[in-house]
Amino acid sequence: MKKQVNLLYFSPTCTTEKVVKAAGSKISDSVKEYNITLPKSRENSISFSKDDLVIVGVPVYSGRIPALIEDYFKNISGNDTLAVLTAVYGHREYDDALLELKHIFENKGFIPIAAAAFLGEHSFTDKLAGGRPDNDDIKIAEGFGKAVKDKLDKINDISDISPFNIKGNFPYRERKPGSHMIPSTSNECVSCGVCANSCPTGAIDFDEYSNINENKCVTCCSCVKRCPTGAKSIQAEAYKKASAWLIENFSAVRKEPEIFI
Ligand SMILES: Cc1cc2nc3c(=O)[nH]c(=O)nc-3n(C[C@H](O)[C@H](O)[C@H](O)COP(=O)(O)O)c2cc1C
Repeated sequence: MKKQVNLLYFSPTCTTEKVVKAAGSKISDSVKEYNITLPKSRENSISFSKDDLVIVGVPVYSGRIPALIEDYFKNISGNDTLAVLTAVYGHREYDDALLELKHIFENKGFIPIAAAAFLGEHSFTDKLAGGRPDNDDIKIAEGFGKAVKDKLDKINDISDISPFNIKGNFPYRERKPGSHMIPSTSNECVSCGVCANSCPTGAIDFDEYSNINENKCVTCCSCVKRCPTGAKSIQAEAYKKASAWLIENFSAVRKEPEIFI
């Protein structure tokens, strides 16, 4: 079955972006990109048709898809559109994120044909999945893309699509109320504006980069990872505790991507 391949992804620290691009590159030479990371890119609704295949990519936040993206997905619709679902997580667990993604997209007129969970360097610390997706992960993501293409080639009609199982539970893992772990700005800041320009929620004031709206910040760590002088960091006690707990409990054994097709 010939389809227009589309990438639809939210990726504040770019690990999800790398995975969906690697998978997409093995399905088609001409993919359309919908990078919905920045607020401006989420201003419009997007409708996909029967002629599209959409590779959806989201990071896992607290074992779920990020709440703001769940909200934005209300503006996405399909019409018997094939979907490939990917979640990228930071070496703790992806819990119910893939199942949640599957339910959302099925309810929006999409037909999921494959799903995968990949590893990406944890937003909070490079001591969990540091440098991932690495070359091995990218090869697996490309192999995933090839497997999707093979599946697609065998589909002549949507009635040919065989169901597949994925991991996850419903009711989903409860989202805990955030503890406002917002970044601090040191006097290393050179006012380059990289942080405000890349903030997925518009939480950083464009006139005063150290001014961060704690009701908008989702602790995605885009600003922390991108700051060229290392001026942004999270000093909140809750963040330090969470990072230490993650490193102690989830860094020992290398986890591998999981593919469901
Ligand atoms: C607020 C928040 C919550 C997170 N929760 C989880 C989690 O439950 N499990 C996990 O393994 N990683 C978790 N992570 C790590 C991200 O899923 C991981 O770093 C991912 O690669 C980030 O994707 P991105 O680079 O596309 O932004 C969390 C990160 C953030 C910012």
